[in-house]
Amino acid sequence: MRNAEDRAKHPIELFTDVAPRYEWMNTLMTAGRDQAWRRSILNFAQSTLEQKQPSRILDLATGTGDFPRLMAKKWPKAEIIGTDPNQAMLNQAIQSVDSYSKKIPSLKNVRWEIGRGEELNIESESVELVTIGFGFRNISEETRLDCVREVYRCLKPGGAFAILELGMPRPGLFRRFFSLLLFNVMPFFIGLFSPKDSYEYLAESIAKFPEPEKVRSMLELEGFIGFSPVALSGGLCWAFIGKKPTHFCP
Ligand SMILES: C[S@@+](CC[C@H](N)C(=O)[O-])C[C@H]1O[C@@H](n2cnc3c(N)ncnc32)[C@H](O)[C@@H]1O
Repeated sequence: MRNAEDRAKHPIELFTDVAPRYEWMNTLMTAGRDQAWRRSILNFAQSTLEQKQPSRILDLATGTGDFPRLMAKKWPKAEIIGTDPNQAMLNQAIQSVDSYSKKIPSLKNVRWEIGRGEELNIESESVELVTIGFGFRNISEETRLDCVREVYRCLKPGGAFAILELGMPRPGLFRRFFSLLLFNVMPFFIGLFSPKDSYEYLAESIAKFPEPEKVRSMLELEGFIGFSPVALSGGLCWAFIGKKPTHFCP
């Protein structure tokens, strides 16, 4: 069993055991809200792009490919690149292409690549939209700003960075109730299906994730126009959008 420090160091490795069960566990833990949250942030991104269809999209921490599937359906002409540092998660994404390709033919054109969010193997100013769903939390506190900087570099002026992340509701009764659920009730149920390590990491990383305004400040620090964070399902999930300015602002 790893201690808290080790778990924080190995968020990539932790997903190897989880990969085959990731999607249904995610559905279970979010009470089926995860797909609606993903769809919401894609709609916010579309309005940030002033309703233009993005022609090239990069999805970081793509995992088993939930985002590329939605994107390929929403924007069938877009070139989509899904990257993740965990090969087991990426393998699930690649294997799922055949089963979805009748419903979503453009899914066959998605490019899957191994890669971390802090070092992007993508040319500067070459994509219109970068997304990261439930993955920004997994990038260490020390390197999160490197990720934001890299995304800024890769985006075309006017492009958007969309971060979807689990979080804590605003301070109050609901937050106290959710903390109780997260640390006292859920571990018992999740422990029935998943390694204890990965659930403990999930709960700790949600509780430690910066408050929404801090995430917006991180985006602004690297040059993005940061929009107000949007609370989804009462703040169990948060949507953050940064827009790369079209003109250089000194
Ligand atoms: C909870 S899954 C998210 C999967 C997917 N985006 C979704 O919407 O469900 C988190 C993913 O973050 C990836 N990850 C961990 N560390 C990372 C890093 N430094 N850069 C990019 N992705 C990372 C893991 O491998 C894992 O696949």
